[in-house]
This record gives sequence, C-alpha cells and structure tokens, in this order.
Amino acid sequence: MLTDKRRTELSDLLRPASPPREIDDIYTDDQRERLLDVVHTQGPWKLILAHHFTSAEELIATMSGAFPEGFEPSLDIFLTPTFRGFLANYGAVLYPELHDCFYNHRFLDMAKAYWKAEYAKPEMMLFNINGPCANRDPGHLDSPSFRGVRHENAPTWLTSVMGKSGLFQDYLIKMAQVITWFSLDPGSGFTYWPDGPLKAPRRVLPPVYNRGVVVQNEMMVHRGEANGPLDQQIPAGLTFDTVFAGDPASRDWWLVKSGDDVIARHHTEELRFLVHWSAEVFSDYDELKKNMEGSDDLTIEQAIDMLIKDVRAQGIKLVMPDDPLRDQDFIRTINAAYDLGGPSSYPEEAPISSFQLA
Ligand SMILES: [Fe+2]
Repeated sequence: MLTDKRRTELSDLLRPASPPREIDDIYTDDQRERLLDVVHTQGPWKLILAHHFTSAEELIATMSGAFPEGFEPSLDIFLTPTFRGFLANYGAVLYPELHDCFYNHRFLDMAKAYWKAEYAKPEMMLFNINGPCANRDPGHLDSPSFRGVRHENAPTWLTSVMGKSGLFQDYLIKMAQVITWFSLDPGSGFTYWPDGPLKAPRRVLPPVYNRGVVVQNEMMVHRGEANGPLDQQIPAGLTFDTVFAGDPASRDWWLVKSGDDVIARHHTEELRFLVHWSAEVFSDYDELKKNMEGSDDLTIEQAIDMLIKDVRAQGIKLVMPDDPLRDQDFIRTINAAYDLGGPSSYPEEAPISSFQLA
C-alpha cells in the first residue's frame, strides 16, 4: 500500500505538457464522410478489447490480480460494445483516400504549438466506434513510448509503468493527439484529470460533434463517457468476438454482429465515432536527429534495471526472475509500486460506473 505522500507524488507526475486545448470544426463534411466510408466498407472491426488481448481467457487472467480475493471475474464485467480500427500506422496512411486527414497541416501546427516545438510528424490514426455503449473505464493513460523502448518492441505493461514512474522523462517521446468525436448524445462527454488523478476532473461537455481536444494522453488520465439509452448500452449476445460493420443494405446503418447474428443495428446519428490522430513532436533539430539516429536510446534491459533499483530503494523486496518481461509476480510487484488506484473524484454528471470496483 502506498503512503499518501507517495500517491500525491505519483499523481503530480501525471500532468500533461500543456492543459488540453478544446477545438472545433475539426474535419470538413467531406473528410468526415470519407472517414465513415472507410469504416462502412472496410470492416468488420473488432472490439477494442480484442486488440489488446488474444482471447477472453487471457483478458480475465490479466485482470484477475486487480480484484479482491474470492471475487471471480467473468467476461461480462469487462465487455462493452466499442470497436476499433487503424487508419494509419507507423507514419503511413493505410487508406489513400484519407491522405489529407492524416498528413494534416492544421493538426501538425496544433501539435507543435501544444509543445512549443519546432517539428512534428504524424504517427498513427485510429477510430473507435459504437452505438449506445456503457463505460467501465475508471480512467486510463494511453501507453507511452520512449527512445529505444516503444510499443513496437516492448510489452505494454513495461511502457505504461515507465510512464507512471516518472523515471524516464528524459527518454519520453513527445506526442500530441488530436481527438475528435462525432456524437449527438446529449449526455456523453470526455472526462480528464489535467492536474493529476487525485485532483479534480474536468469535462469536454456534450454534445461533442466535430469537436475535440489537443492532448498528451500518455501523461493525463482520461476516459470517454457512456452514451445512448441505458437499456441499449450492452446488447444481448455481446461476446469477445462480436464485430462492427456497415450495413451492406444502407450507408446510413451499421450492424453489430456475433457470428451471423445481428445483435444490434444503429443509424449513423446514434453513433459515437471517435477519430484519434497522433504525432511525434521534437523540440528542435537536435532532438529530431537524436530520435531518428537512435544515438541516445534506452534498452529494455536498462529500463528494467532502473525500475528494479527504484522499487528496491522504496524498501520493496524484488527478486529478478528469469523472464522479467513475462513473470507475473515480478510485473505485479513493479506495477503496484507505481499504482495510484483510480482517480479520487468524478464529475457529478458522469459518475463512475456502478460496474467498477475501484
Ligand atoms: Fe485513451
């Protein structure tokens, strides 16, 4: 159990480079329609959860440590019908019709201004899409990358604990996101904790349609809020393998399918469609060069060593296992040394979900 002083220190680390900047009129109508066209025609798209875990069993195994003893989690408490796909990755747009959305002059200017930096380049673009949908996310950080230890070569638990520890600030790759929502829901906004998760949250107020934020979501706890009528937020028949796709019969309609069964059908106006664009940002030419040449990179071994030293300095017993990247006890101990638990407060209009145990 962390002391209050330690929790405050860790909370203070989780503050973004600048407060989020709200922006509007982000995409043109034509760009929005092309984005939706890709989603409509190029699916089916998997659950967000299915991007992070290969099976329902793996998901439950990973999360079990977080529950009180004797509590047997079942898949139902994690499942929400929200789906994801990639539109650009590794700096390359995956659908040529979205070239202007990804290599976006205005976004690059906003990313540079957010960091007061000289250079930026687009890195990735993805979407989340759903009809009415519950929220069981108490608030999270996107996983950060460091020079030499990135999401491409290191497990998520490692990069995420590196971010939370504050030990690797010199190696953190500066990133900015432009997050845009197309949602007509009058109650569904975005909650974020710009001063750390133990301080008061703020909200982007609904409805959030073609509006969004410029943020550094690797260093700021945040979450989307539930949307749609309560009784439709979890469709009957939802499983780990449920997918989302355009209805071939109509461009205005969308299908949620489990195998061959259509378990929900939504009109475009019922959707919550989020487009996430992110860029890597470099303060100056030296920093750009250092990043691209790899001349000052960390290795995974160095990162693990620094964490072990720091955890031991806190008086926590930690034995180096044979396979530190996969040893569950080791991972749990390191995680616990930097784990604040959930945020301390939620907006009145968007309280923590009753499903959550935090
Ligand atoms: Fe996120």
